[in-house]
Amino acid sequence: MTDKQKTYCLINYGCQMNESDTEHYAGQLEELGYKPIADYHGADVIIINTCCVRESAEKKIAGKIGELKAEKRANPDVVICVAGCMAQKDGEKLVKKHPQVDLLLGTAYVNDFKRLFLEYLEDRKGKIYTDLTIHQSEFEGHMVRQSPFHAWIPIMYGCNNFCTYCIVPYVRGRERSRSVENIVAEIKAAVADGYKEFTLLGQNVNSYGKDFGEKDAFAKLLRTVDAIPGVERIHYMTSHPRDMSEEVIKAVAEGEHICEGFHVPFQAGSSEILRRMNRGYTKEKYLALIDMIRKYVPDAAITTDIIVGFPGETEEDFAETLDVVRRVGFTSAFTFIYSKRSGTPAAKMENQVPLAVKKERLNRLMALQNESSLHCHEKLVGKTVEVLADGPSKQANVWGGRTRTGVLVLWPVEDKKYEVGQKVNVLVDTAQTWLVKGKAVD
Ligand code: 5AD
Ligand code: SF4
Repeated sequence: MTDKQKTYCLINYGCQMNESDTEHYAGQLEELGYKPIADYHGADVIIINTCCVRESAEKKIAGKIGELKAEKRANPDVVICVAGCMAQKDGEKLVKKHPQVDLLLGTAYVNDFKRLFLEYLEDRKGKIYTDLTIHQSEFEGHMVRQSPFHAWIPIMYGCNNFCTYCIVPYVRGRERSRSVENIVAEIKAAVADGYKEFTLLGQNVNSYGKDFGEKDAFAKLLRTVDAIPGVERIHYMTSHPRDMSEEVIKAVAEGEHICEGFHVPFQAGSSEILRRMNRGYTKEKYLALIDMIRKYVPDAAITTDIIVGFPGETEEDFAETLDVVRRVGFTSAFTFIYSKRSGTPAAKMENQVPLAVKKERLNRLMALQNESSLHCHEKLVGKTVEVLADGPSKQANVWGGRTRTGVLVLWPVEDKKYEVGQKVNVLVDTAQTWLVKGKAVD
């Protein structure tokens, strides 16, 4: 008789860094012989990788953790692990509220998961790990990536900025860079496994290497990765406008494989709000940065993050945000309603903006951004764009993929066969707000 196959189910919330961490958890579980299942019912291990950047995320996740109470009752041997930012923030409080949680792992334990999981299996006594100082930035472990051609590559962890609205520095700790050697080794191994598109990840990639005391380390890293044979596309995120240097922009302009997409969150257009957010730049400085990007990379696609309703934001302040959106012409933007995060300075600020006002501003902002996205997409009509194929879209006989700057492209397959990750040239004939459509030309 063979042993029953052990299974795991990973439920991920939040940003790309969390997705990357989840790929590490999966890799470590597969090294132990576990296989993935999509539905958590009956799994041997369930990991919920959590986010706490906004209250809405936390509410959704708390609901999911609550659901697992019934699963624990039905399947008492299941190991329920809550990991990531919300685990880091709430620690013991979370386990008290949800006693079905067996293992609580803060953000510093990703690369040590296997050892802690095996230790747990020995005595099955609940454990809580929330020390932030033990984090290991270097790793060699096996990773189970979601995509067969695109890889997330964490290059640094944590954030030193303390923007006044943001919980991240408290739950991810101080900035720690991974060594160039360790990053390059991971990318080379991924290339050998067929990967060609890479996103270098960090909360603030432009300060990569500052902890080694090295100047222009991120620009150098970009050039190093660009020279690795087999690397076809390089993206990176997130850039802080204050730290984005001319050297980085030049590296993008000159690097053959470094894509022309710049994700530079401006958060708010009013210089007074930016000051209270502790962002370290003014509206004018931000616009000057955009000019510099366009000078070196005229076809750059610029994307951003924007928060509406920061405490004290007046209608005049908000008009400055709309003005930046109008002037820059972002290809796309992530837009958020300010969410009060307790423990951050902004949570204690006076003049919190009522929810109805925030919602109304968000709607106006989204309408303006949609026009901008459509306008950027219209500029692609009549052009041939290089797409890496993601696979079949929801529509029958239509495939989807992304341009070098991340624009979604759909094209009919007709009688041709494509492979996921294949490079396809598409002549764009239709622009919409969220995507463009066209015909494959080779
Ligand atoms: N409320 C709303 N949005 C937030 N972000 C970070 N903290 C908050 C908050 N408290 C947004 C920022 C950041 C993105 C990842 O999330 O725009 O760039
Ligand atoms: Fe948060 Fe600001 Fe750090 Fe981004 S740069 S993670 S918004 S503190």
